[in-house]
Amino acid sequence: MKRRTLLIALSAALASGAAFAQAPIVIKFSHVVATDTPKGKAAERFKELAEKATKGRVKVEVYANSTLYKDKEELEALQLGAVQMLAPSLAKFGPLGVKEFEVFDLPYIFPTKDVLYRVTEGQIGKDLFKKLEPKGIIGLAYWDNGFKVMSANRPLHKVEDFKGLKMRIQSSKVLDAQMRQLGANPQVMAFSEVYQALQTGVVDGTENPPSNLYTQKMHEVQKHVTVSNHGYLGYAVIVNKKFWEGLPADIRTALDGAMKEATRYGNAIAQQENDAALEAVKKSGKTEIYVLNDKERAEWRKALLPVQTSMAGRIGPDLVNAVNKEAAALGFKN
Ligand code: LMR
Repeated sequence: MKRRTLLIALSAALASGAAFAQAPIVIKFSHVVATDTPKGKAAERFKELAEKATKGRVKVEVYANSTLYKDKEELEALQLGAVQMLAPSLAKFGPLGVKEFEVFDLPYIFPTKDVLYRVTEGQIGKDLFKKLEPKGIIGLAYWDNGFKVMSANRPLHKVEDFKGLKMRIQSSKVLDAQMRQLGANPQVMAFSEVYQALQTGVVDGTENPPSNLYTQKMHEVQKHVTVSNHGYLGYAVIVNKKFWEGLPADIRTALDGAMKEATRYGNAIAQQENDAALEAVKKSGKTEIYVLNDKERAEWRKALLPVQTSMAGRIGPDLVNAVNKEAAALGFKN
């Protein structure tokens, strides 16, 4: 009898030992920006919440600042399963064959963040995510960054000021069209290479929300920043479909909850992060910050709005119209 009890105790100990020793599910989450940005902070918050909600059964390894993969590589790595989670900018889905995401890059398509949220939180956002599934990708959330500023080593007040400038862009044909419309020469380049390209004069200028500009120290190699808010930059948090669907259901539910909370947090801090970054750039004294006046803003709009029409064929005119309808529902008209 004693012997039997001992055996039961022993096998129970072994079983719990085995469970204890079971390796956690690892989510490698790769991204290209600094930790101290809206995306970087939201990724860290997701890690914290996910590990807590799964009681350590999931371990999230966040690789910031392109330490694991650069822009194009990270999407390939996700499809191959070398990483499980990413949050690329919405401007980076074109090369994957999902051109519709470039609707987010159209100049002046979002008059306010409220219009943006109607799109990302509504049916349009859901339909866009469905387009990723045949690529072996699932979209989990949209994360905010903000409206973009333009920078260069010359003042950018008028449209003519862009003439002949080599401007770094993300891999979006809409951004290519936007820069050409301004008379500049667009150049696609990975985010991790921008600082050096600006420093060495490979490109003359770029566009980004202030938080990206500041945390990559681009202001140290750009004498002029124009607050133009001519376009938007945000993210899609995506996972490898096979990985996600292979997770135990309770884990997936816990991760979904963590993602919802991290999204709320990231979106709540995005604007203040950008405001603080712009303030820090100003304080650095290295860059002159210029805010367009009404006349200049109207001139930029006039030059850039035609991109909405010229690129509608690529993106899908119905989608462009649907987004503009969301703006109209809040009383805005392009
Ligand atoms: C860029 O390449 O400029 C941005 O997409 C970087 C980022 O992820 O915010």
